[in-house]
Amino acid sequence: MNRYDNRRAIVTGAGSGIGQATALRLLDEGAHVVGVDVSQAGLDDTCEKATAHGDRLSVQVVDVADEASVVDGVAQAVAALGGLDVLVNAAGILRSGHSHDVSLDAFERVIRVNLTGTFLMIRESVPALLAGSAPAVVNFSSTSASFAHPYMAAYAASKGGIQSMTHTLAAEYAKQGIRFTAVQPGSISSGMTAGVGESKQSMGPGLPEDADMSLFMKLGPALQQGFAGPEAVASVVAMLASEDGAFITGTEVRIDGGTHF
Ligand SMILES: NC(=O)c1ccc[n+]([C@@H]2O[C@H](COP(=O)([O-])OP(=O)(O)OC[C@H]3O[C@@H](n4cnc5c(N)ncnc54)[C@H](O)[C@@H]3O)[C@@H](O)[C@H]2O)c1
Repeated sequence: MNRYDNRRAIVTGAGSGIGQATALRLLDEGAHVVGVDVSQAGLDDTCEKATAHGDRLSVQVVDVADEASVVDGVAQAVAALGGLDVLVNAAGILRSGHSHDVSLDAFERVIRVNLTGTFLMIRESVPALLAGSAPAVVNFSSTSASFAHPYMAAYAASKGGIQSMTHTLAAEYAKQGIRFTAVQPGSISSGMTAGVGESKQSMGPGLPEDADMSLFMKLGPALQQGFAGPEAVASVVAMLASEDGAFITGTEVRIDGGTHF
């Protein structure tokens, strides 16, 4: 018996990195998955990698920052799945820079995709989750929410907001049976962190050329040389949204190989 037999899941950010690894992990464990992403090319890549379980995967282009796209996308996904038990909100963007140089548009874009996008996906999914079986939502925070990562004010704020929202929602829906948890990844190879370890630029798109790297208290994991693959997070997401995580709600799990103790 797989943990996800007969479980129906929506995974955002399913076209790359951790969202893609999570979609593939849930499929491996028996789930029916709708993978959504703003990138059609990313979703095509996910479909190619899911050939063994292709009959249980469908994909949709959804921009989580666009209310109409989310309303339509979640309705279509729930109809395709015949209901909903699991929502994983992995879609996100990272923009870095000296905070005094960051435009309002750039700041608001990060909040819009990461925080507002997570809220919209949850708002539209809750009615179906309330009718689902052992419903669970896993949101994506970051180590940036709890540990000072310079040059990433908007990103850190968006992730802190996601953590706070996760706690609030866990309380609000506990009696109705929906569990809300968050993961705090760090030092994970993905589209977002491509090339980390080789240069300052690799710490995130737009990290200033003159970034003072001594401001980062610790740059790498203690457990191993280099970053872990996105599967290191996908396995924890799969646990949290399964019956194995049935007594976990309103909290976050840090997955960073000891980059932050
Ligand atoms: N990689 C890390 O070390 C790390 C650390 C902390 C948190 N995270 C979080 O993990 C999550 C997954 O990121 P990743 O590292 O796999 O990066 P990634 O760039 O590989 O994947 C992010 C995915 O989100 C999609 N996306 C971006 N904007 C979107 C939108 N408006 N609507 C729908 N999809 C959109 C992208 O197309 C991409 O497929 C993010 O929330 C990120 O903030 C990652």
